[in-house]
Amino acid sequence: MIKHKSIYILGIESSCDDTSASVICNGKILSNVVANQEIHSKYGGVVPELASRAHQQNIVPVIQQAIQQANIDKKDLNAIAFTRGPGLMGSLLVGTSFAKSLSLALKIPLIAVNHMQGHVLAHFIKEENYKSPPFPFLCLTISGGHTQIVKISNYFEMEVLGETLDDAVGEAFDKSAKILGLTYPGGPLIDKHAKLGNAKAFKFTKPKVDNLNFSFSGLKTAILYFIQKKVKENPTFIEENLNDLCASIQYTIVEILFDKIKKAVNDTGINHVAIAGGVSANSEIRNVLKSYEEKLGWSTYIPKFEYTTDNAGMIAIVGYLKYLDHNFSDEKITATARLKVTDN
Ligand code: KG4
Ligand code: ZN
Repeated sequence: MIKHKSIYILGIESSCDDTSASVICNGKILSNVVANQEIHSKYGGVVPELASRAHQQNIVPVIQQAIQQANIDKKDLNAIAFTRGPGLMGSLLVGTSFAKSLSLALKIPLIAVNHMQGHVLAHFIKEENYKSPPFPFLCLTISGGHTQIVKISNYFEMEVLGETLDDAVGEAFDKSAKILGLTYPGGPLIDKHAKLGNAKAFKFTKPKVDNLNFSFSGLKTAILYFIQKKVKENPTFIEENLNDLCASIQYTIVEILFDKIKKAVNDTGINHVAIAGGVSANSEIRNVLKSYEEKLGWSTYIPKFEYTTDNAGMIAIVGYLKYLDHNFSDEKITATARLKVTDN
């Protein structure tokens, strides 16, 4: 019997406010360490300057921990994969510089990864009881910076069918949460309170946007004016109605997303549907998508919770797929704040 060689890739992610490192072996995750930066919660959003400083502090221990948890020696690594972009420049530079130095020191290849492709391709991490989607499939990529419907014809063959014209859906969650006085990031808190509330208690108008595009800035403004008016009448309005407000806001956002993904399935005839990105951690989005298996006959692909928000496991899997293609970068590669999901 032929014994297949084990390929070990270290993935490094530092695009926003999470410092993360992961070791993957032949597509299976051995470790996926994430250091969240608590510092931003009191500012109501990510402060770029503070994020890069925290990455600088976290990166060495996080990588050491990932290698230790994987139970390997750094000399066993076959390549270093890192997030090249999109993201905050100062944050990206920390991971990029570290990845370059480590690849030079260990004399192993360097692999640049597009963060958005990482979110999508996290569906190809080999996990027990998880079936990866077949090509072509549709992916609703929803995060703090993006809202897109992407058609994936192969690992690195993607087409954006629609996207937000203004705010990302994660921003809609976070900004609504801020209006309600919740801390950053507010998405998970809205999710938590919504579980206890009535989704039909308050009605917010959905935007009218053509094609498969989205818009969320109008919703945010509508929520802001509604709350300001109600608080004027009753200063404790938010406290008294927090669960119902969260449930109603979440319900509207989920409806906006699913109106468009349903249209995308109708337009393309593709009914393999995946979700990806931080907002795909949302319990209502996961439930509604799952329910469409029975209701609409779709095949749905819902990532494991830990692969939804930013993590280096998703960077490591892209690194592994690129390694198999010998798709390496040279040492002149630079971090790029702006990068489309279709940029290879
Ligand atoms: O992918 P991600 O970790 O970072 C970016 O690349 O943007 O996404 C972060 C976003 C934040 O806006 C956060 O509020 C949102 O994901 N998020 C959620 C949930 N968990 C994270 N939004 C709604 N419900 C959740 N459970
Ligand atoms: Zn992300």
